[in-house]
Amino acid sequence: MTAVLELADVTVRRGDATLLDEVTWVVREGERWVLLGPNGAGKTTLLQVAAAQMFPTSGIVALLGELLGTVDVFELRPRIGVASAAVADRIPRDEKVRDLVVSAAYGVLGRWREQYDALDHDRAESLLREFGVERFADRLFGTLSEGERKRVQIVRALMTDPELLLLDEPGAGLDLGGREDLVGTLSTLAYAPESPATVLVSHHVEEIPPGFTHALLLKQGAIVAAGPLEETLTDATLSATFGTPLSVTLDDGRWAARRRPGRRR
Ligand SMILES: Nc1ncnc2c1ncn2[C@@H]1O[C@H](COP(=O)(O)OP(=O)(O)O)[C@@H](O)[C@H]1O
Ligand SMILES: [Mg+2]
Repeated sequence: MTAVLELADVTVRRGDATLLDEVTWVVREGERWVLLGPNGAGKTTLLQVAAAQMFPTSGIVALLGELLGTVDVFELRPRIGVASAAVADRIPRDEKVRDLVVSAAYGVLGRWREQYDALDHDRAESLLREFGVERFADRLFGTLSEGERKRVQIVRALMTDPELLLLDEPGAGLDLGGREDLVGTLSTLAYAPESPATVLVSHHVEEIPPGFTHALLLKQGAIVAAGPLEETLTDATLSATFGTPLSVTLDDGRWAARRRPGRRR
């Protein structure tokens, strides 16, 4: 399978801090990765590098077959779909959901482009339907619930028919029902063969949607383990990643983790 994203010894430093520490990682077409790690592990930084929004301090990044640094990132970015808190913060609350989704086709936020193609409208409609948010098409983004917003953001990220989809903690802030809806939606997406290669950031194994194929575990900017999900996500790797003795289970396609009983206090 063709590599969609290739990182070789990628290091990101800011002042004295090492945000990413010699990360070597390959994502291939058809793969669905979950990127797990505690707060501050460098997950968002890694996603920013993968989105061509940040250049590493050292190391090599190849994105969609192009070497970062030798290619115009403005041509690369529309081929990558991103949903993150940083993107969400830039969405005007009074933007109509339909316009917000359609405007993604032009890589712009806001309605400064008045003329949209009929094809773009058709694609927006069908994506909104697929994600069960078509009834909100005429609502303002700011009036949606957190879960509805998350789904609209994913729809928006998919609008350009990207070759790589990057989702930074789409489960954050959702209630249990919202989380389960999202896991279901992402699972459907994961199983669809035409879906782009996907990287989903989370810090909860309970949020791993069935159909995801690989995991990368990150701690203090460095990879603890990476590879096929069931080989990679073990008691040992998860405990090392989160720095506490954890036991992980897989039941009916869903993962769960809890602390191993230790010494009584
Ligand atoms: N500009 C910066 N200068 C110094 N440290 C930073 C900067 N940006 C992020 N960091 C630190 O880098 C670490 C990794 O951040 P981040 O990638 O956002 O982690 P995660 O998404 O896993 O929570 C954090 O400890 C954060 O405080
Ligand atoms: Mg983050």
